[in-house]
Amino acid sequence: MKSDTQVAIIGAGPAGLLLGRLLRLSGIDNVILEARDRHYVENRLRAGLLEQPTVDLLDAAGTGERLHREGKFHEGFELRFGGRSTRIDMRELTGRAITILYPQTEVVKDLLAARDKTGDPIAFEVSDVTPEDIEGDRPTVRYRDAAGVAHEIRADFIAGCDGFHGVCRPAIPASLTKTFLRDYPFAWFGILADAPPISDELIYAHHIRGFSMHSMRSDKVSRLYLQVAPDDTIENWNDERIWTELQLRMGSEGSPRLNEGPILHKSITPMRSFVTEPLQHGRLFLAGDAAHIVPPTAAKGLNLAVADVSVLSDGLITFYKHGDRSVLDGYSHLALQRIWRAQEFSRAMTELLHHVPGQEFDERLQRARLEGLVASRAAMTTFCENYTGLPFAGRIHH
Ligand code: FAD
Ligand code: DHB
Repeated sequence: MKSDTQVAIIGAGPAGLLLGRLLRLSGIDNVILEARDRHYVENRLRAGLLEQPTVDLLDAAGTGERLHREGKFHEGFELRFGGRSTRIDMRELTGRAITILYPQTEVVKDLLAARDKTGDPIAFEVSDVTPEDIEGDRPTVRYRDAAGVAHEIRADFIAGCDGFHGVCRPAIPASLTKTFLRDYPFAWFGILADAPPISDELIYAHHIRGFSMHSMRSDKVSRLYLQVAPDDTIENWNDERIWTELQLRMGSEGSPRLNEGPILHKSITPMRSFVTEPLQHGRLFLAGDAAHIVPPTAAKGLNLAVADVSVLSDGLITFYKHGDRSVLDGYSHLALQRIWRAQEFSRAMTELLHHVPGQEFDERLQRARLEGLVASRAAMTTFCENYTGLPFAGRIHH
């Protein structure tokens, strides 16, 4: 079956859903195609921390109401190393910046609920998604729906919001792109535990046994992470080993032990830094994980996807409202500036906190860096400016 739209969006993660919503608010028709089913998309456990600019854009999209009611505003976080703990007061240091703990699963549910209300088309469980004619005036996306029926959508533009393993990035000729990749000699083991968090704030801990982190999903549910070897498996970690390791790595003088409880979910996330350049070719535009990956330490992945959408939506809306393609043409250049700043900070924060076995000189340097950070108000202020999120470059249109 053939149909037409203005913007065909591939992927219903935070990037695709938010783009669709912002376009709708400016009267621009769009269709979203998603490979997974709705339940999977709404419950995929991922990021937790939102930057203020992300919250501002979700507010502008009219999808921030529950976030303000249920999200937890964080004004500081704890840094632990050498058995000591230092609280870093983000608000006091930067005069403004805070972060909001509101899980990605909830952001996605809010965006889908808003789409339900406007009735804009979204097809789940599609397959064989193929962007075509991206160099022409009227690109096409072919796909099969959940029942296997073949479809063809003609659009003015295609937005590739289909994540790291999507089909849009490979649709740009390899000879025109450059990719940048860094792997890390570790991965993150994440758990969700039916155990009350010990603090309202996040705790990032550096330890000779490896990095660990304390976050939360509610007053009763903790989200905890452990650095593990890149080839480690979930089967290697029974509950007792997980709690023992977390207690050892998180322990600090005068701080309570973690509350333990049934583990509800376990996962392993690989760590990599990746960027493809440029983000656009012809009428195809990449946004979010389709174009870049950061290691999760600084919680930038989701926020960076939203930052891309801020610029891409500005470009598309400016084109449709004023016939001016300059913002859209400059999308890649503008978005990449912030992407590389976030890459730099994500890598620095990862290397500050993780432990690479056998690198004794580096371990000493790491300690010196951590001591230098907590001893210097200027250093902590710069850290917090990056951690809480740099401003977005796109304009809000309504
Ligand atoms: P995605 O959320 O990946 O959305 C892409 C969508 O496209 C998906 O729904 C996918 O099913 C769909 N899709 C893929 N291929 C196709 C296709 N061919 N056709 C149609 N649809 C397709 N960030 C943090 O900040 N903190 C964290 O703790 C954290 N943990 C993470 C854990 C994991 C396991 C992963 C993978 C990521 C994590 N991230 C984290 C990163 C963060 O979740 C992502 O940066 C964020 O989801 C990016 O949003 P997106 O919309 O660009 O991509
Ligand atoms: C969470 C994950 C992060 O990587 C981070 O830096 C902060 C919070 C989380 O999942 O809650």
